[in-house]
Amino acid sequence: MSSKSTNSYVEAWPPAPQGRRPATDQIHAGTAQQLPAHPVRPPLYLSAAYEFGTLAQARETFAQRQAGYTYSRTGNPTVALLERRIAALENGVGAVATSSGQAAVTLTVLALAGRSSQSPDGEAHPNIAAGHVVASNRIYGGTADLLNDTLAEAGIEVTWVDPHSPAEWEAAVTDRTRVFLLESIGNPHADLPDIPALAAIANRVGVALVVDNTLATPYLVQPGTLGAHVVVHSATKYLIGNGTCLAGAIVDTGQLSPSQHPERWPQLTATRRRFGDQSLVEGFGDDGALLHLIRAQLLNDLGPTLSAWNAQQVLDGIETLDLRMQRHCANADALAKRLDQHPAVKHARHPSLAHSPDHRLAKRDYPHGTGAVLSFELDTDIAGVERFFDALQLIKLAANLGDSRSMAVHPASTTHCRLTPELQRAGEITEQTIRLAVGLEDVHDLWEDLDAALRYAVPTSLTVVASEVSVQ
Ligand SMILES: Cc1ncc(COP(=O)(O)O)c(C=O)c1O
Repeated sequence: MSSKSTNSYVEAWPPAPQGRRPATDQIHAGTAQQLPAHPVRPPLYLSAAYEFGTLAQARETFAQRQAGYTYSRTGNPTVALLERRIAALENGVGAVATSSGQAAVTLTVLALAGRSSQSPDGEAHPNIAAGHVVASNRIYGGTADLLNDTLAEAGIEVTWVDPHSPAEWEAAVTDRTRVFLLESIGNPHADLPDIPALAAIANRVGVALVVDNTLATPYLVQPGTLGAHVVVHSATKYLIGNGTCLAGAIVDTGQLSPSQHPERWPQLTATRRRFGDQSLVEGFGDDGALLHLIRAQLLNDLGPTLSAWNAQQVLDGIETLDLRMQRHCANADALAKRLDQHPAVKHARHPSLAHSPDHRLAKRDYPHGTGAVLSFELDTDIAGVERFFDALQLIKLAANLGDSRSMAVHPASTTHCRLTPELQRAGEITEQTIRLAVGLEDVHDLWEDLDAALRYAVPTSLTVVASEVSVQ
C-alpha cells in the first residue's frame, strides 16, 4: 500500500487509531475531529457549497492541488464521515459513498472497465472498445439488468459464469477483462462463492475482484481480507437497517496496486489532462487513484451523490450493525431449518443448512453466520404461490431486505423480473421461488405466519403440526 492519503480531495484526515475492534469502529471510526461545541454526536452538515477565503484558494481546491470541500456533489463532511466509517469496517484504505447500491456498482465498473481501461493514454477515445466483465450468474436482478442493458450501452461486455466454479471464471477471461463481479452472499439464494480462489485467479490474470458485500456486511465477512480489491455496498439494506432510504458505497481495499501493472490500468497510471497533467497514481498513490477517479470524475460528472441526510441515517444504522446481524442470522438459520422440513416446501436454500453446497465455505469464511436472506421452492403452482402471499399477515410482500421488518418477495415477478431466460435458468429463479429477507421480529411469530401461509398455499400440507422453533 502506498502512504499517500486517499482523502486528499475532500480533506486531510489522520489515520484511525490501530487496534480498535469492529463494535467500537461502528460507533467511533472517523470521528476524531474537535468541533467548537464539542457535540457528542457528529452533526449533520446540510450545505451544498463551501466558502473560500480567496480566489487562489478556490482555484487550488477545484484543481485538486489542495485538500478541501468544493461542492457537495463530490464531498460533504457528513458523507465523508460515513465513508471513513465504512472504510474502517471493511478494513479498506478509503471509500466513496453513492446515492444507491446501483450507483456504487455502476461507478466501479465504469472506472475499472470503461473505454479508458483499454486505451494506452488512459483517455476514453470513442473508437476504442470498452472493457469486459466476468460476473456471477446468480446475482441481484438489478445488477444483471445494469450489465446487460445500461453498461452494454457504454460498450462494456459481460460474460455470465457460475459463482461456484472458479474454472469458469478463468476460462471466461479475455485480454479486455478488467473486472470479476460477484456477491459475497448471493441474492436471492444466498450462494457463497470461494472468494480466495477467485482472488487468486484475479491476481494471476490481472483483473480487479469486485465483491458486492450487501447481504453479508463487514460484520459477517470482510471480502478484502479474503483478497477482494474493491468492495461495494447497497447501504440501503443492513448497514442502514431501518428501510428508510437508499445509499451505496465503494471501498478500495488497497490491494490493486495499479502502478505495479501500469499497462493494465492506463486510466490510473497514464498522464491525464483532467488531473493536472499527472497520472492518478502520481497524484494520489496506488491506494487513492481509483477512488479519486470515481469521485473527481464519475461522481462529479454523473452526479449519483449521497445526500447528507441519508448519510446520517446510515451512520445511525451502522452503530448497531453487529447486534442486528446476530439476531438476523439466528432468525434466518432457525427458519431455514423449519422451511426445509415443511411438506409445502420442496427445499430451502441457505448456507446454514447441512445439505447446502456452500455449507463448507460457510464454516470456513463466515464464522458469525451467513446472513438473513434465504430462498425456498414452494411445492405448488402459481395459484398456490399467490395464495401464499395473500395469506401472510406479519411478513410483508415487499422488494427490500436488511430492514428490521421481515419481507417476502417473488423474485420472478419483481427483483429478478427482467432476467434473460439464460440467467433465469442459471440463477434457478422459478415461478415457485420465494425469497425471504428475515427481519428482527420474534422468530416464533415469524414461523407462525409462515406456517399458516404455507398451509393455506398448499392445503395438502395441513396435517403438519407447527412445532416450536428453537433459536440456537
Ligand atoms: C446485492 C445487491 N446489490 C445492489 C443492490 C442495489 O442497491 P440499491 O437498491 O441501493 O440501489 C441490491 C438491491 O436490492 C442488492 O440486493
